[in-house]
Amino acid sequence: MSTPDSAPPLESARRTIGPVLLEMSNISLSFGGVRALTNISFDVRTHEIRAIIGPNGAGKSSMLNVINGVYTPQAGRVTLHGVERRRMRPHEAAAQGIARTFQNIALFKGMTVLDNIMTGRNTKMRTNLLQNALYLGACRREELANRQRVEEVIDFLEIQHIRKTPVGRLPYGLQKRVELGRALAAEPVLLLLDEPMAGMNVEEKQDMCRFILDVNEQFGTTIVLIEHDMGVVMDISDRVVVLDYGKKIGDGSPDQIRSSQDVIDAYLGVAHAN
Ligand SMILES: Nc1ncnc2c1ncn2[C@@H]1O[C@H](COP(=O)(O)OP(=O)(O)OP(=O)(O)O)[C@@H](O)[C@H]1O
Ligand SMILES: [Mg+2]
Repeated sequence: MSTPDSAPPLESARRTIGPVLLEMSNISLSFGGVRALTNISFDVRTHEIRAIIGPNGAGKSSMLNVINGVYTPQAGRVTLHGVERRRMRPHEAAAQGIARTFQNIALFKGMTVLDNIMTGRNTKMRTNLLQNALYLGACRREELANRQRVEEVIDFLEIQHIRKTPVGRLPYGLQKRVELGRALAAEPVLLLLDEPMAGMNVEEKQDMCRFILDVNEQFGTTIVLIEHDMGVVMDISDRVVVLDYGKKIGDGSPDQIRSSQDVIDAYLGVAHAN
């Protein structure tokens, strides 16, 4: 892996943060007359938990959609592993090790927890349909590896007891956990979480926080997290980007962000939705 950044590693309270993994440079994105993102630059370092915060409509989800190739910005550069991206489709982002969860849960409600998490393995499947139909050796080995990874994820997220339950029957907090499981099944290098704790009660939030930290520490996964709960953001993030009306108004450690007057004026000082 090339390491375009020669800056010294950041020390976090928990572990060492590595070189730049993802670099967003001068990104601008509009929808007709709506400027969702205006000339935004920031980077994400290996093994970091990087938060994106800001008021409703600030452009946070749009930024995740640029990172994983759903939207192609009108201007700017996206560089992953030191390689600048040309136009990209979401499945290519997945193949490069980017996985995500969505602001509104995106699961197959009629399917079981196990089958939903299994869909996260799609990008890992290399054998083709004919091989699958004939159930050749490579396909069998692949199937076993997929099953094993999915079982590991289920154990890790402590959801063995609901593995055969249709997702639609689960309470909201557990559905969010299953969605995290689907993303983890892909063994992502970079995990994008769009409001993973929205709508949760305190206990569910604590559980989700612990899983995010464990994913980061045990699997070494780099995480970009959008979240409105400032207690959570300031607790678990290494660095925070603040967006407001599509512009970047802050970027730094939780302490720097907490004491930034611009950020206080635009976001922290006012009540905001969960
Ligand atoms: N597909 C789209 N078509 C048109 N406008 C869009 C689209 N996606 C986002 N926008 C607009 O871009 C702006 C940023 O939206 P975005 O969803 O990125 O904000 P957000 O920070 O995620 O907000 P929230 O906290 O409410 O989730 C908004 O004005 C939104 O209406
Ligand atoms: Mg959003």
